[in-house]
Amino acid sequence: SGTPVTVSFGDGIGPEIMQASLRVMLAAGAHLAIEPITVGESVYRSGHAAGITDDAWESLRRTKVFFKAPITTPQGGGYKSLNVTIRKTLGLYANLRPTVAYHPVVATRHPGMDVVIVRENEEDLYGGIEHRQTRDVYQCLKLISRPGCERIVRYAFEYARAHGRHKVTCLTKDNIMKLTDGLFHKVFDEIAPAYPEITAEHMIIDIGAARLADSPERFDVIVTPNLYGDILSDIAAEVAGSVGLAPSANIGTHCAMFEAVHGSAPDIAGQDIANPSGLLLAGVMMLRHIGQAEAADRIHNAWLATIEAGIHTADIFSPDLSVQKVGTTAFADAVIARLGTL
Ligand code: NAI
Ligand code: MG
Repeated sequence: SGTPVTVSFGDGIGPEIMQASLRVMLAAGAHLAIEPITVGESVYRSGHAAGITDDAWESLRRTKVFFKAPITTPQGGGYKSLNVTIRKTLGLYANLRPTVAYHPVVATRHPGMDVVIVRENEEDLYGGIEHRQTRDVYQCLKLISRPGCERIVRYAFEYARAHGRHKVTCLTKDNIMKLTDGLFHKVFDEIAPAYPEITAEHMIIDIGAARLADSPERFDVIVTPNLYGDILSDIAAEVAGSVGLAPSANIGTHCAMFEAVHGSAPDIAGQDIANPSGLLLAGVMMLRHIGQAEAADRIHNAWLATIEAGIHTADIFSPDLSVQKVGTTAFADAVIARLGTL
C-alpha cells in the first residue's frame, strides 16, 4: 500500500536530512511505498559515467515521483551534472521555488516577502553544450526555444491564476541577448494578455535581482530562464532567512521531482547540524502533488509550531537569545512531537 515514490539519499548532508524528513513524513501518516535508489558521486565512482544506473531510471519511470536529496556535482570538470540529466530526461520543464518570510520567527528585514520563482528547467546555458574553440577560447551554447518559452510562461500564469496571485514578473537580459532572451520576453508579452486579471511586467535581470535583494515584497510570481532562476532562488532563500529553508518542485508532464534548493553542503556533512527544512518542505509539496494534502498540512503546521517554539538549526539567524539551536535529528524529533498541532 502507499503511493510509490522513488527516494535517493544523496551525498554530503543528503542522508542526514533525508532520514530526518522521511521520519517526519511517515510519523505524520504519509502513505508512501518508498523505492530507494542510489545516485550521485558513489555511482559515478563505481563506473557509471552518468552517476545513475538503469535500475534507478526504471524506478523513476515507473513511480514518476522522485524525492531527492542533494548530490555532489564536481566543479570545473568531472561528470556532467546529474541534476541536469534527470531534469532533461524526465522532461521536468518547470522548477517551482517558493520563498516565504516566516517573520518574526525567522528574522528577516522583509516580513512581507512571499515570492514564487518559476524557473525554466531544461534549456538556456544548462544544456552543458560547451566546447573548446581554440587553445584559449571556450564556448557555451545558450539554447532557447519558442515551445520551451511558451510552456514555462504559460505555466507561470496558470500557477498565478490557480493560486490567486496577482502579478507575474519576467526577468531577462534581452537588451544584450536580443534573440535568446529576446524570444523569452516576446513570448511573455504574447501570452500575458490571456490572463487579464494578472499584472504582467518585465525587468532586466540585473535591476530585477537588485530589487529582489532589496525589496522582495514587491514581487509575486517571477518567471525567468534557467540560469537566472537558479541564482535568484538562492538569493531569495537567503534574504528570507536561510538557503536551508527553501524547497523546490521540478514539474513535468509525466513526472515530478522534489528537492531542497541548496546543495550537498560538504562543509557541514556528517555533523548532524544541517537544516532538514528545505527537503522536508519539498516533501510537503510532494505530498500535495500525490494527493496527500492532509499529511502535508499536518507536517507544515508542526514544522511552523517548531520554529515558532524557538527550536532552530544553526543556519537560521536569530537576534533572539531564547532561541534554542538544535541539530538535524533533534529538530526532526521536535517536529514529530508537534504533529497534530494547529
Ligand atoms: P550548498 O548549497 O551545498 O552550500 C552552500 C552553503 O550553505 C554552505 O555553507 C552550506 O553549509 C550551507 N547550507 C546548505 N544547505 C544547508 C542546510 N540544509 N543547512 C545548513 N546549512 C546549509 O552549495 P555549494 O557548497 O556551492 O555546493 C556543494 C555541492 O552541492 C556541489 O557539488 C554542488 O554542485 C552541489 N549542488 C547540488 C544541488 C542538488 O543536488 N540539487 C544543488 C546545488 C548544489
Ligand atoms: Mg542552485
